Amino acid sequence: MKLFALGDLHLGFRANREALPAWRARPDDWLILAGDVGETFAHVELGLRAATERFARVFWVPGNHELWSHRADGPRGVAKYEAIIALCRRIGVVTPEDPYVIWPGESPCVIAPVFVLYDYSFRPAPVAAGDAVAWAEADGILSADERFLAPDPYPTREAWCQARVEETEPRLAEAAAQYPLVLVNHFPLRQDLVRIPRIPRFSLWCGTRRTETWHTRFRAVVVVAGHLHVRTTDWIDGVRFEEVSLGYPRHWRRERGIDGYLREILPGPAAGTQTGGPVFHR
Ligand SMILES: [Fe+2]
Ligand SMILES: [Fe+2]
Repeated sequence: MKLFALGDLHLGFRANREALPAWRARPDDWLILAGDVGETFAHVELGLRAATERFARVFWVPGNHELWSHRADGPRGVAKYEAIIALCRRIGVVTPEDPYVIWPGESPCVIAPVFVLYDYSFRPAPVAAGDAVAWAEADGILSADERFLAPDPYPTREAWCQARVEETEPRLAEAAAQYPLVLVNHFPLRQDLVRIPRIPRFSLWCGTRRTETWHTRFRAVVVVAGHLHVRTTDWIDGVRFEEVSLGYPRHWRRERGIDGYLREILPGPAAGTQTGGPVFHR
């Protein structure tokens, strides 16, 4: 029995949807979907169902893309998030709003899916918070989240992020008192993990410094994230950080199939076997 993870299925792309039927089933194993399954309810449901049909247990955290509101009459912000939570409950997928699940392996862990968004704090010190988006725009970088990711009813995405951090930390502390954690968040927990040299100022939309020490504070054995579309394995303070993205069609090779991009989280890969070749956003 293994725990795998995969992020950023991005089923808004036809090439990614077309790869689903050949995705191999692993009925004894569990799967973490690390966000950015798609933007619409139909594509999110397609991805969640594809996963639950193939794995014994499925976990999901929201990416920024799930939280987009394209339609003027559709749910926005927290309401969109809660609508996807309701969908997960119908399908039987574990979300950040459910009790954490214990991994029943030889070394038990708590699998903690969390959702904390970003707050523009991944920026150089001289750039003031209020100038951050303009600083990125000056380099031609502006996340589509600025148009599509509404924070309602919070006034800003930063405020939503802060509220999520504050409600998540006590839960993680309680869980970590029981077992070590597998911490799952769509966004990387630390700024030093954001290596996107072609678009460095996109870091604003990649996380929050509030989670910088979570891996040690909450006794993580593995931290799982997606979002960057740069598959890597890093070790920091003895903790394994896995970036598990599939990504846009240009970020992965069709002939390898979706199964070829699953990353083993537990019990864990043999040393040195899982450092994926970095792929970068263009
Ligand atoms: Fe993504
Ligand atoms: Fe993302």
